[in-house]
This record gives sequence, structure tokens and C-alpha cells, in this order.
Amino acid sequence: MKLVWLITLLPLAIRAIPFSVSPEAWSVRDIPTSQRAAREAGRVTVQYLNYYSGSPHQLLYLDAVRKATVKSIPEIGDKFYIEFTTKDYQTNEARVCTASVFFRQQQAKPAIHVNCTTSGSLMKAREDDYNFYSKVKKQITPISGKDIPDSFGFIEPDMLPVWYLAIMGSSFAVWEKTTEERSYTMAQIKTVQQLPRKDDSVAFDYDILLHELPTEEMIHCSLHIVWIPGKPPKVDYECSNNAENGSGAESEEGSTFLGNFK
Ligand SMILES: *[C@@H]1O[C@H](CO)[C@@H](O)[C@H](O)[C@H]1NC(C)=O
Ligand SMILES: *[C@@H]1O[C@H](CO)[C@@H](O)[C@H](O)[C@H]1NC(C)=O
Repeated sequence: MKLVWLITLLPLAIRAIPFSVSPEAWSVRDIPTSQRAAREAGRVTVQYLNYYSGSPHQLLYLDAVRKATVKSIPEIGDKFYIEFTTKDYQTNEARVCTASVFFRQQQAKPAIHVNCTTSGSLMKAREDDYNFYSKVKKQITPISGKDIPDSFGFIEPDMLPVWYLAIMGSSFAVWEKTTEERSYTMAQIKTVQQLPRKDDSVAFDYDILLHELPTEEMIHCSLHIVWIPGKPPKVDYECSNNAENGSGAESEEGSTFLGNFK
């Protein structure tokens, strides 16, 4: 008897939900793929992938956003569903990805879920990663450098992997700093210094500049990156605005390092 009741009531209950709490009630709309918000959602997803792959020789950049939908949840935030293509920095190989990117209102570090087609050059990238790693491990004089790229946009071929490693590691900080209103791209390595490690990993300290949009400000960050091929890097970072006038412009909380060292 009770079961029959339940079954007859169920369709009513389901029909009632959309008008109260169902996600369908929130406004879901397509947005032009050329819109800034669509590209920024794609860009932060690619940065997340670059960090997460743990492979400095498999870095991607955003090529084109093909489809973008946003679900706006009042007082909570905006969730983007996007389809986009990426290109590999080195091989130019294209991949197709779908992602959901959820920006909570006024908060950094969007929640990202992403699927991409697999890469054909994975083995080559792994090999390049390992060769770089071995070279760093065997280094008698620790690697160091500054102003990469230089003011002409030039990077010494020897320093390319060091630049890629900085992009991979800084992508973690960038993902954590990104909000719906602010995005970041790596602009330059000011200084880099390899640190000795007794374990299997390699470590570098970087001072870098991030380019912030839409403010066009340069953000100065110190990064400490510890890496083993095939694993997302461990990253500690500290960023402060006003890179141009360093004196007294350090971050307000003093020297709080953020990161994923646990
Ligand atoms: C990724 O793939 C899984 C398994 O096919 C699927 O359940 C999930 O919805 C996909 N996520 C995105 C963001 O496309
Ligand atoms: C840094 O520069 C900005 C504007 O360029 C100025 O307002 C600020 O007072 C400067 N800060 C320091 C600590 O010099």
C-alpha cells in the first residue's frame, strides 16, 4: 500500500523540484567563444593541466574555445562548461578537451574538471623530461641564470627546460591565484638557482614575474619547486604586487609562503 503511494507521488515530486532547488532552475546560457570569460576559463584549465601533468616537456597552450556555456548561481558563483583545443608547445600537436570550471564568487582557485584526448607524443616528452632530470642531477656546478627570456625575447637553448619547469611550477601558483576577474601568465624569470638535493628530486628557486590581467600589473613571485619526472611538482610560493618598486612593497602578511608541501 505504502509503495503505491510513493510511486504515484514521485512524478509530482520530480516535477516540483525544478522550481525550487534543481540546478535546471539556474540560468544556463551559451556565451560567445570569443568572450573574455570563455577564453579565461580555457586558459586557467590549460595552466592547471600544465601543473598537473608534471611534465615540463608536455606543456600546452590554449588554441581555440569551441563551445562555452555558463551556469550562474546567484550568490555562489559561475560554472563554465567549455570545449576547447590545445596545442603542444614543442610538437604543435592538437588535443581536444572538455572541462567544467567553477569560480566561487570573489574567490581564487577555481574548481576544475577536465578531460582531453590523449597525446601521441607522450613517450617523447617523458624521455625529454628524464634526460633533463638526469642532466640536472649530474650537474657539478648548480644551474643558475637570470632574465629568461632576455629583453629581446631570446632564451638560450640550454635554459629552455629550466624555463619550461618554471612554467609548470608557476602554473600551480597561477591556478591558486586566478579568480573570475583576474588571470595571470608567466612573463619572465628574473633569477633561477638550482638547489642541492640528497633525495631523488631536483629543486630550483625562482624569482619570476607574472603578468596580471586585466590590470596589466607585473606581480613578483618567489617560487620553490621540487620535482621528480612524472609527478606534479611540489611548489612553495610567495607573491607581492608592485614589482617595480620593491622596497617595502612586500606582501601584507609578511613572508607567508603558500604551496602544496604537506
Ligand atoms: C570526463 O570523463 C568522465 C568519464 O567519461 C565523465 O564522467 C566526466 O563528466 C567528464 N568530465 C568533463 C568535464 O568532461
Ligand atoms: C610603488 O609605486 C606606486 C605607484 O607607482 C606608489 O603609489 C607606491 O607608493 C610605491 N610604493 C613604494 C613602497 O614605493
